[in-house]
Order: sequence, then C-alpha cells, then structure tokens
Amino acid sequence: MTTAIRFAGVHKRYGRRDVLSGVSLDLDQGAKLGLIGPAACGKSVLLKLLCGLEPPDRGQIEVLGKDIVGMREAELGELRKRIGMLFQNYALFDFLDVAGNVAFPLEQRGGYPDVATRVASRLRSVGLAGSEHKLTTELSGGMKKRVGIARATVADAEIVIYDEPTAGLDPVTTQKIYDLLADDHARTGATVLAVSSDVAALAQFVDEIAFLYRGHIIYRGPAATIRDAPDPLVRQFVRGDLEGPLDDGAPP
Ligand SMILES: Nc1ncnc2c1ncn2[C@@H]1O[C@H](COP(=O)(O)OP(=O)(O)OP(=O)(O)O)[C@@H](O)[C@H]1O
Ligand SMILES: [Mg+2]
Repeated sequence: MTTAIRFAGVHKRYGRRDVLSGVSLDLDQGAKLGLIGPAACGKSVLLKLLCGLEPPDRGQIEVLGKDIVGMREAELGELRKRIGMLFQNYALFDFLDVAGNVAFPLEQRGGYPDVATRVASRLRSVGLAGSEHKLTTELSGGMKKRVGIARATVADAEIVIYDEPTAGLDPVTTQKIYDLLADDHARTGATVLAVSSDVAALAQFVDEIAFLYRGHIIYRGPAATIRDAPDPLVRQFVRGDLEGPLDDGAPP
C-alpha cells in the first residue's frame, strides 16, 4: 500500500505555545481518516502544514511521495494542484464570483474541456444551482462553505482535505454534503483527511478516526466504534461527558 500522507515527529510552536509536539500520522492512498480533538488543539494547523502553507519547526511531512519540508514555492504550487482543500474559514477569493472560485482548481490544472458545465454540475451537487454569478460577499456562511466544498472537489484531486465541512449547516444539508463526499470518494478513490466537531456524522463517512490531544495523536481507531474506544479520554470527548480525565486539550 502506498502512503499518501506522512507526518513524522512534527513540531509547531507559536510564540510560547507548543501546538504540535511530535505528531506522527500516516494515511495510505485511498484512506478516509477523520481528525478530532478539543477546540484549538491544532487540527487546522496540522492541515495547513500538510498543504505547505506554513513550515513545521521540526519533523517530516511527506505528501504523495514528496518531502514537502523546505520545498520551493514553485514545486509546492505544483503539488497543491493535486490537493483539494476546504478551509475552516472558507478562504474564498473575494475578487472572483462563485463560478470563478469553483473553476479555480480546474484552471490551475488546465486541460478541462468544459469548465462551465463542470462548475454548474458541482454547484448543483452542493445545492447551489444557478449561483454562478453571485459574489462571495453576498453569501451566507453555509453557502460559502458549500462553495468551498464545490471548489475542493471539482478537480477530482488525489488528496482532499476538509476542515469542518458541515459546521453551521442544517442536519439535512449536512447529510447531503456527506453523501456527496462519500460518492466522490467512491468514484475517485482519493485520500481523505477530514476534521469535524460533528463526530457522529464524521464517523459515518470516514473509516478511521485519530484524536489530537496536547500536541500528539494519542489515539487512532475504527470510526464505527469510536464511542466505545478503549481510551477513556477519547470516549469522554466523543460522548460529550463532563465528568472524566479530559481537560481542554491545550498543550502543557
Ligand atoms: N498563525 C498563527 N499564529 C499564532 N497562533 C496560531 C496561528 N495559527 C494557529 N495558532 C494557534 O494554534 C492553536 C491551534 O489552532 P488551530 O486553528 O489549529 O485549532 P483547531 O484545533 O483547528 O481548533 P478549532 O476546533 O477551534 O477549529 C491555537 O491556540 C491558535 O491560536
Ligand atoms: Mg480548526
């Protein structure tokens, strides 16, 4: 099995805060892994490092067989074309309309004969049919999120990263989005890394779940049985119990 994503001993500090203090995590090609953990424990930071948007202080990060630490920006740019990314804050381009945002990865990669049809079809899949010419500033949070999902998935990237794909969406839309992500995965076989606070919905989508806590991945196990994970911290977190050994997960 080929490894698509590999973190080995990754450290990242901001100011005096050790956010990641030796994270190691491997994803095989085609794997679907969910990443969970308390607020501000470093989930989004880990995804940013994976895309090469920031360098780690220490440790190794390999993406699609390439060591990205210290990689030149031009080469990183080429690698990013193979990754679909939904950021937690959407990171839409406000100088482009909805269609321009969704078409962006297709134009970056080039060679797509019918960009407009593909964009329209993706927008339909996320429930935004006919929104091509809306400005991103006119959109609600949930609409922005869905534009971000359309953009992350439009080019059938080899790796897709979702940071809170359904936060702020209603339960029916949440289910539709996860159905879409699951259909995409069945069709493309992409490697998926998804962060979500909606553990129940996430667990139905991914195969395995990893728990980030105090700067480390302290648990990784099957998604289906995550509520009964052998680790009491994970169990308490997933069940939302107030009583137990869990603290806020901040690095010591
Ligand atoms: N660019 C930055 N500069 C300084 N501190 C940062 C920066 N990015 C993240 N942090 C800090 O790193 C910690 C982890 O942030 P991160 O966004 O990864 O949390 P998270 O696990 O994604 O939380 P949430 O569930 O709330 O999205 C936080 O304390 C945050 O303030
Ligand atoms: Mg986050």
